[in-house]
Amino acid sequence: MPQNTLSITDNRTGQSYTVPIENGTIRAMDLRKIKTGADDFGLMTYDPAFMNTASCRSAITFIDGDKGILRYRGYPIEVLAEHCTFPEVAYLLLFGELPTASQLKTWVFDITHHTMLHESTKKFMEGFGFDAHPMAMLVSTVAALSAVYPEARNVLDPANRLLQIKRLIGKVPSIAAMSYRHNVGFPYVYPDNDLSYAENFMNMLWKMVEPKYAAHPAIARALDVLFILHADHEQNCSANAMRAVGSSQSDPYLATAAAAAALAGPLHGGANEAVLRMLDEIGSKENVPAYIKKIKEGKGKLMGFGHRIYKNYDPRAKIIKWAADGVFEVTGRNPKLEIALELERIALEDEYFVQRKLYPNVDFYSGIIYQAMGFKPEMFTVLFAIPRTAGWLAQWQEMITDPEQKIARPRQVWIGHETRPFIPIEQRSPAGLVTR
Ligand SMILES: CC(C)(COP(=O)(O)OP(=O)(O)OC[C@H]1O[C@@H](n2cnc3c(N)ncnc32)[C@H](O)[C@@H]1OP(=O)(O)O)[C@@H](O)C(=O)NCCC(=O)NCCS
Repeated sequence: MPQNTLSITDNRTGQSYTVPIENGTIRAMDLRKIKTGADDFGLMTYDPAFMNTASCRSAITFIDGDKGILRYRGYPIEVLAEHCTFPEVAYLLLFGELPTASQLKTWVFDITHHTMLHESTKKFMEGFGFDAHPMAMLVSTVAALSAVYPEARNVLDPANRLLQIKRLIGKVPSIAAMSYRHNVGFPYVYPDNDLSYAENFMNMLWKMVEPKYAAHPAIARALDVLFILHADHEQNCSANAMRAVGSSQSDPYLATAAAAAALAGPLHGGANEAVLRMLDEIGSKENVPAYIKKIKEGKGKLMGFGHRIYKNYDPRAKIIKWAADGVFEVTGRNPKLEIALELERIALEDEYFVQRKLYPNVDFYSGIIYQAMGFKPEMFTVLFAIPRTAGWLAQWQEMITDPEQKIARPRQVWIGHETRPFIPIEQRSPAGLVTR
């Protein structure tokens, strides 16, 4: 019997099967041949929330959740955060290798020259109410770009794909900044091509009447590091949405809008906003033990704690603490940091959290830094979406060029009725709404 195989005995029939094991996985389709008879569809796996199912083979981002390791294309996140800029990391994610100096120069030039929004897109955004959530504006406007660039639907052409990738990485910060300016009631600031990616974003956010915006270098660097940390995270909820929607060959604007919509939820990218609201609710360091007690009694979750993959300290949370020091030197310490540090201290010692391997994740500290930089909580997820666009696009490109991929279409386990007789309307009884 070859070593890299799995033997399965079906106790319903007494038959044995051998299936190959490759990269620690068996192919779900190999189970289909396990049948009780000619009419049997064949065995399937049932895996709600994809707890133990690999949906793709990927070479972009590696995570070892038990050891707290995160690498993009083989490079540890700590090394990239220390030595690289965000556009350099975006290049790495998309092309597989770090750029040379001249490749980086061309890449930055190309992205920079796609930062402008069509005036019709600006008008589209002006149609939102002033209290519109910036994430709702971002999701809708990214989708609306599909109407501005109809040629984007030609997703099988590599040159066309690259053009849309550059446009998206260039334009998402402009849309994000516009959503912020709209929210606070200031006029839109056009991009400044002399500035770096992070500096230009700050320019579009915060430029007032000065002729040229000068970003504080420490804040610009911290923002750039935060962008690097958020650039990709393998098959999370939004990357999965990007791949699933992209698998129908929707254009990348629609697929990115779908991914951003997935990011908006409080269990994903919306968690940093939820952390700040939680810290507001706690109010002061003294109230932390009582709050932890409430969580342990099952009354809510400690936002910014826990992760599907990390069962150790999230490596990004460590780097964020380091980036925070640089920001607080300029802005002064955010008083919420005291509450967060106390929450972390108590939670890391508490049996409930230790037993469940609940550690701070990236969102636990990012919101505190963003707030110190002057962002309102509503903007936090938008700040996450800007760099993650590069990751989504890398995942999308990998999916499109993978000959094994097809339109994503899971199976279901049918638990509903068999065929039943139709009931004329006058004979029906009010059964109530079926909610499940
Ligand atoms: C991220 C998250 C969705 C992962 O969920 P998951 O992998 O499905 O984990 P589970 O919900 O199965 O959690 C396992 C156990 O830990 C508990 N738990 C998980 N996260 C918790 C948290 N933040 N606070 C308190 N308890 C938590 C669950 O209640 C469960 O306990 P039980 O075994 O007694 O039922 C979850 O940890 C969470 O909601 N965290 C808060 C939101 C957040 O910070 N999201 C950002 C992720 S980057």
